[in-house]
Amino acid sequence: MAILITGISELVTCDDTLEGADQSDGLGILRDAAVVVGAEFEDAPTSVQWVGAAADAPAADWSFDLGGQAVLPGFVDSHSHLVYAGDRSAEFAARMTGQPYDGGGIAVTMAATREASDAELRALITARVDEMRSQGTTTVEIKSGYGLDVEQEARALRLAREVTEETTFLGGHVVPPEARDDRAAYVDLVAGEMLAAAAPYAKWVDVFCEPNSPHAFTGDEARTILLAGRDAGLGLRVHGNQLGPGPGAQLAVELGAASVDHCTFLSDDDIAALSGSDTVATLLPGVEFSTRSPYPDGRALIDAGVNIAIATDCNPGTCNSSSMPLMIALAVREMGMTPAEALRAATVTAARSLRRTDIGSVRVGNRGDLAVVGAPSYLHIPYRVGVPIVKTLQV
Ligand code: NIG
Ligand code: FE
Repeated sequence: MAILITGISELVTCDDTLEGADQSDGLGILRDAAVVVGAEFEDAPTSVQWVGAAADAPAADWSFDLGGQAVLPGFVDSHSHLVYAGDRSAEFAARMTGQPYDGGGIAVTMAATREASDAELRALITARVDEMRSQGTTTVEIKSGYGLDVEQEARALRLAREVTEETTFLGGHVVPPEARDDRAAYVDLVAGEMLAAAAPYAKWVDVFCEPNSPHAFTGDEARTILLAGRDAGLGLRVHGNQLGPGPGAQLAVELGAASVDHCTFLSDDDIAALSGSDTVATLLPGVEFSTRSPYPDGRALIDAGVNIAIATDCNPGTCNSSSMPLMIALAVREMGMTPAEALRAATVTAARSLRRTDIGSVRVGNRGDLAVVGAPSYLHIPYRVGVPIVKTLQV
């Protein structure tokens, strides 16, 4: 079954090899375009079968006309923490009046999450993914990290796996209250029994590497957990340089991590290490917004040759927003990125941070994951900030 989509004023392919497309901003834009997506059988994921000028479009089983809207690859939200219960809105309110964030609230969410049943957690996760999907996100990475014992971390990943293949084991989120007297024993547990229980449900391992927080992990502790994860066959990701300068970014590069996330406080040496590497720097501007922190200088990173993704980090503590359009607006307004750079960061480079090439760009053979903008150009995403104009294109 093949479906022809016409009436596309601007097709942003994010394919910088597409011939005949406008490549002036690296977005591979076709104007007055059409796309054919199809699936081999019912309920199979769709794939892109044809991309080109509307005038050249082939026949298809069905067609529909978007009447002059822009189409993009669906957003790839490469960093989220959706498996949790409980409410920390009062913590947000306190931060707005000056209370700093240090990771301590994670234990509050941990307690509520441990108490929730599978059915309760499943309903929460599903509602959050639906909320993302309604705003143009078609791939989401989901971390564990609010269970922090063997059974709870495995459960979190088992439930996350029901909605995404991009699952990340974050037993190294913080040291839970019951383990505070023996950090070394907790690191051994995470790198041993907890990892073994979680690994069947996880693609990635991540650590909150942050010596500036008493709750999170030092560079050496993070290295132990990451190396164990690598031995278990998982890819590596790192929460690094969020609260102050630290070893996270360079550790990520040294170990060949796919991504180091946050990057709020990077030194010149960190930037130099990232620029010659395969490690994507994933910026999370909703966190700076929601914690009143300084924004990282996206412009400087791009000019230094660093590959940048942007993601929501949707979580109950530091950014409870599921909106990729808001992250694009913040990247443009606060981090010196052009709308085109922010859009690539939210799609094709975010896919790269998941080591995927089948999503994040509209090209023949890729997944048919598309988003539609209720406007003639993608420029309206940051321009119409706060207005829900991006939707996933359901075909
Ligand atoms: O990405 N930095 C650590 N983890 C999350 C926050 C989690 C929380 O506070 O609940 C983050 O910012
Ligand atoms: Fe995070």
